[in-house]
Amino acid sequence: MRDQEKMQVVRIYEYGGPEKMQLEWLDIPEIGKDEALVKVKFASVNFLDIQMRRGDLVKQKFYGKEAGLNNNLPITIGSQCMGVVEAVGENVDHLKPGDRVICGGVGTYATHVISSAKRMIPINIDIPDQQAAAGLTQGFLAYAFTHKAYPIQEGEWCLIQAAAGGLGSLICQMAKLRGGKVIGVTSKEEKAKFVLEAGADIVLISSKENIPERVREITNGEGVRVVYDGVGKDTFDSNLNSLGLGGYLVMYGQSSGYVPPFDLMKLQEKGSLFLTRTNGLPYMKYWPEFMENFQKWVANDGFSIKIDHVYPLKDVAKAHSKMEDRNSVGRILLKP
Ligand SMILES: NC(=O)c1ccc[n+]([C@@H]2O[C@H](COP(=O)([O-])OP(=O)(O)OC[C@H]3O[C@@H](n4cnc5c(N)ncnc54)[C@H](OP(=O)(O)O)[C@@H]3O)[C@@H](O)[C@H]2O)c1
Repeated sequence: MRDQEKMQVVRIYEYGGPEKMQLEWLDIPEIGKDEALVKVKFASVNFLDIQMRRGDLVKQKFYGKEAGLNNNLPITIGSQCMGVVEAVGENVDHLKPGDRVICGGVGTYATHVISSAKRMIPINIDIPDQQAAAGLTQGFLAYAFTHKAYPIQEGEWCLIQAAAGGLGSLICQMAKLRGGKVIGVTSKEEKAKFVLEAGADIVLISSKENIPERVREITNGEGVRVVYDGVGKDTFDSNLNSLGLGGYLVMYGQSSGYVPPFDLMKLQEKGSLFLTRTNGLPYMKYWPEFMENFQKWVANDGFSIKIDHVYPLKDVAKAHSKMEDRNSVGRILLKP
């Protein structure tokens, strides 16, 4: 039985498979001066959470510094959620109890999140809770990559890896909003329909087709102007081989593993290419502009956030397995 002082969390005591995650009751701690307490409505399942659970992030300095992951077990899993503020510390002035917010950081697979208020952004547009949980942060990333990291131009071809995925399907839609021509890649025939619904002009099936060869055929030998990739190791060479002269590889993840160190000359050999491994941080100043546009796109331009499934918190292992086994299309949510 839950009482006022307790919160339920999904924790791991050792790294490993989905079965390592366990549901527990903990006391809700006192909030610090710069913190806020949020009652979680929906936590989103992100591939990053799977990597957190498996221990793939342990040696990556970035996640300790920027995502607040200290790697001391046990940890509460989860990196994003949407909820309602219940209390704020005395130094917090941009939030108040009752505000709907999205939160980033560690420990969001829970009924409550206590975290630095800096990681919480008020939701000041009219959007249902589920859509906010599934679409705001990921939508912003898709916006940042397609509009800022490499702003795809009208008529340019792009290649989008894992185009049926949570982030990939939003990147497809954002690239189309800019007038880009989209080649979406997925591993399974059954996910192709969804990639087309997300706006792709052409879908390629990575388990059956040679992607660079098909890209050259489609683009009359030129290659694409930009590749948006969150798959990492397995797609790296194929991505470089799919780009046209002076093309851009925008990498934002590593669902298949980290790209090993490589010879920089490879970029010149493949056509003087540009490469970035990025996230949303350099683009946070564009958040207000994104929110304004996002509401308009959802209302008028058919922009949609596909939710694959909403699982109760107790079924977190099923949610992870679905994503890890590459069976999800769009976003997966957990409901505490
Ligand atoms: N940089 C950032 O700020 C940021 C923020 C959020 C997410 N990300 C990254 O973006 C990527 C996508 O995240 P997401 O949450 O939207 O996940 P997702 O794309 O919904 O799921 C992962 C997809 O990757 C593909 N994949 C390729 N190789 C895989 C492998 N070995 N194991 C599992 N899946 C594999 C699968 O699609 P197919 O079967 O169709 O190939 C799978 O559906 C992740 O790498 C994540 O860490 C980065």
